[in-house]
Amino acid sequence: MSFRLQPQPVARPNRCQLFGPGSNTRLFEKMAASAADVINLDLEDSVAPSDKNQARANVLQAIGDVDWGNKTLSVRINSLDSPYWYRDVVNLLEHASRRLDQIMIPKVGCAADIYAVDALVTAIEAAKGRKKRVAFEVIIESAAGIAHVEEIAAASPRVQAMSLGAADFAASMGMQTTSIGGTQEHYYMLQGETRHYSDPWHWAQVAIVAACRTHGVLPVDGPFGDFSDDEGYRAQAHRAATLGMVGKWAIHPRQIALANEVFTPSEAAVSEAREILAAMAEAKAAGAGATVYKGRLVDIASIKQAEGIVKQAEMIAGR
Ligand code: COA
Ligand code: MG
Repeated sequence: MSFRLQPQPVARPNRCQLFGPGSNTRLFEKMAASAADVINLDLEDSVAPSDKNQARANVLQAIGDVDWGNKTLSVRINSLDSPYWYRDVVNLLEHASRRLDQIMIPKVGCAADIYAVDALVTAIEAAKGRKKRVAFEVIIESAAGIAHVEEIAAASPRVQAMSLGAADFAASMGMQTTSIGGTQEHYYMLQGETRHYSDPWHWAQVAIVAACRTHGVLPVDGPFGDFSDDEGYRAQAHRAATLGMVGKWAIHPRQIALANEVFTPSEAAVSEAREILAAMAEAKAAGAGATVYKGRLVDIASIKQAEGIVKQAEMIAGR
């Protein structure tokens, strides 16, 4: 146990991050009208190389022109191994309206990647007199990214969120799959003839959650490619939520309600949490540190668990 208190991540809902290609201007108003908490306008892998300049111009215009309401507005820049990223940063920081909240940095491999972007962003903010400091979110989607996940989470106070990007991650790791997240046909244990399917994304998610919780960053599950499979999405989102992640990407509008449902604490969970807090308050008044709730032990650690659920529900309700 450390004497240091665990830092709290930024208090804003991040249940669903909706993506749309910066080259597809027809989607922008629909994205703004959606129920997603975070909007990710993409300049990276959903935009063809020949469209990069146009997409950048579209996104700059839309940041100022579209009414994004109270959503967190984020732009995914190109990765640092591309020739595009510096122009993304320069144009965004020099010309985007102050409505821009966040930049998403993909394919981060080490803390120095964040340092490089931070140096450029900081210089342009100073030169342009931008008072609002742009936040960062990062994608862990490579072997190097997961190997250096903790230093990446700690790399800059600008880093507010970190996602697992399943497709690039699988490619970088050499995993035998072409799907974007979800159950993998050949990842199972045998018990006699019975197959027990396991979760190949689990360890990377846990590594991300631990790094994020250590450094006060929001851990987020990335894309689920098969947008016709609601139950598959829901199952993956529930696993992520159980492990401590706060939200998940949507790459199609039908995934938004699923993410919001899973990452909003249910009424049953909130009322149970409140009952546990009441039981513990009674125990404390009687001089006890532990008590029995519905036939099971609750103690001082249960207060933290229950408070986490209530706090999350209140933050979402109050947005
Ligand atoms: N945001 C908002 N609205 C969207 C949307 C998005 N990301 N994707 C589709 N829609 C809209 C469509 O415009 C359509 O609207 P309409 O009913 O007014 O015509 C409706 O939702 C149904 O769309 P559908 O026909 O099922 O999908 P599509 O074939 O138009 O698009 C994709 C499918 C996957 C190409 C598209 O959803 C997309 O571009 N997703 C984001 C991809 C991305 O950003 N990837 C990078 C991160 S991994
Ligand atoms: Mg990717």
